Amino acid sequence: MKVDPYKVEGKIDYDRLIKEFGLEKINENLLKKIKKDAGEIHPMLERGIFFAGRDLKWILDEYEKGNKFFLYTGCGPSGPIHLGHLIVWYFAKWIQDKFNVELYFQFTDDEKYMYKNMEYDEVQKWLGENMLDVIAVGFDPKKTHFIIDTKHAGLLYPEAIKVAKKISFSTIKSSFGFNDSMNIGSIFFTAMQTVPTFLPSVLKNKKIPCLIPHAVDQDPHFRITRDILPKLGYYKPASIQCLFLPSLAGSSGKMSSSESAKGILTTDSQSEVKNKINKYAFSGGRDTLEEHKKYGGNPEEDVSFQYLRFLFEEDNKKLNQIEEEYRSGKLTTGELKKYTIDKINNFLKGHQERREKAKKEVNKFMLKSDKNDIFINLY
Ligand code: TRP
Repeated sequence: MKVDPYKVEGKIDYDRLIKEFGLEKINENLLKKIKKDAGEIHPMLERGIFFAGRDLKWILDEYEKGNKFFLYTGCGPSGPIHLGHLIVWYFAKWIQDKFNVELYFQFTDDEKYMYKNMEYDEVQKWLGENMLDVIAVGFDPKKTHFIIDTKHAGLLYPEAIKVAKKISFSTIKSSFGFNDSMNIGSIFFTAMQTVPTFLPSVLKNKKIPCLIPHAVDQDPHFRITRDILPKLGYYKPASIQCLFLPSLAGSSGKMSSSESAKGILTTDSQSEVKNKINKYAFSGGRDTLEEHKKYGGNPEEDVSFQYLRFLFEEDNKKLNQIEEEYRSGKLTTGELKKYTIDKINNFLKGHQERREKAKKEVNKFMLKSDKNDIFINLY
């Protein structure tokens, strides 16, 4: 097993990750506290999709005292958006709504340019496309601020160098498994991903707690961040971390944009979704209908069922019913797939309509700051 921002490989053992990364598992007490503060609990929390974090109790304690946090998450624009990305974003929207908080959303076009074999213009194209998907999630434009690394460079760079000065080359090498042949931009990059954890504190000139919802592979960046922020006079960022959505083939690894053929994209048509699920979604059912009826299927291994559990079946009762009927063999793979296809298509219909409208809204989301204007006054 290997899990870091640049490689997710093998069968993921999440309990082992909790130990190795030093994460706090989300327990009943924490769920109760979230429920008390949010007024309800999100299915992704109840179902353990968001399973771990750092300093979550602290961030809620501060919230209860009136010291509100802001949210920070991001996207590296290197390809189309697939269902895996949406887990974090739709969850972040729920937190924004329930806690009434600001969201800073970083687009790391610099990262993707430096790490991938891609032309600058290609990355910029995906940046434009990906922003539409983020807007389509339905974030409040008054409380949501896009940061684009290459466009907000003037704002980010003075802070990034303060971070970079505190990170040694050997820390980066051991955190990400880099060797001496890596380009020097990629070595610097963690500093850029760190800046939004405290940029709002810089802009508002007061210490503000930060909560980062993210998939567990990004944790190595933020472990470094947490070591540095107190040295710069800011709070350590808290985080809430999720599992990887299984790929259609059923691996537990991360669904990757570069293997788009394997995943369902936000722009897929209804018939593409139908084909992908029918053709590729790994089934936990038995080889023949007869055996299935007799012995039942395995929902843990069934990708359609997992998609319902992660994102598409909000109703707990209904999900439990599907699980039981599938396990008992009453529900067939064909029926389960059909139900999942309808659910995904219904969801994507709304997302795609909002995505289309988003084309006129991008500038409403851009972070504006007079600190990003260039005006030099020497006298
Ligand atoms: N590095 C992330 C990626 O490759 C993008 C990202 C930037 C991010 N800032 C973040 C993800 C904060 C989660 C939280 O996709």
